[in-house]
Amino acid sequence: SERTLVLIKPDGVRRGLVGDVIGRIERKGLKIVAMELRTLDADTAKAHYAEHAERAFFGELVEFITSAPLVALVVEGPRAVEAFRALAGLTDPVKSAPGTIRGDHALEIGENVVHGSDSTDSSAREIKIFFPDRF
Ligand code: GTP
Ligand code: MG
Repeated sequence: SERTLVLIKPDGVRRGLVGDVIGRIERKGLKIVAMELRTLDADTAKAHYAEHAERAFFGELVEFITSAPLVALVVEGPRAVEAFRALAGLTDPVKSAPGTIRGDHALEIGENVVHGSDSTDSSAREIKIFFPDRF
């Protein structure tokens, strides 16, 4: 069994999609082992998205992710990283199949409702940032 860090980003919270996302996680059979509503500060956001620090959209990304409350979850299950990425769909919501979270709910890359860790190395790093004392 493995763990992944899921974020329901500020657009998802603002649009009332928390229940929808959690429902999909639960119906898939994954288990929620930590969950918190919080507004990120810039340092936490930059640490979380450090791999994108040199990208042109980094400033926009940090501004957006700190703009309003998000929901952070630790989700556990067999191949949880890959399982949640499949539920989320592709980064570009327009290319994402209907039936996925992004395919059903989003149009813009910058506001694509959820984040999910992209590897077990990333999930270990990200879980430490969001829930430093819990795991
Ligand atoms: P996350 O689960 O959020 O990490 O998405 P991802 O792994 O599918 O994509 P990636 O890690 O490559 O990019 C992180 C986030 O940056 C994406 O989810 C987008 O919200 C945002 N992003 C990526 N590319 C662009 C871009 O070209 N413009 C803008 N504004 N945002 C982008
Ligand atoms: Mg990513």
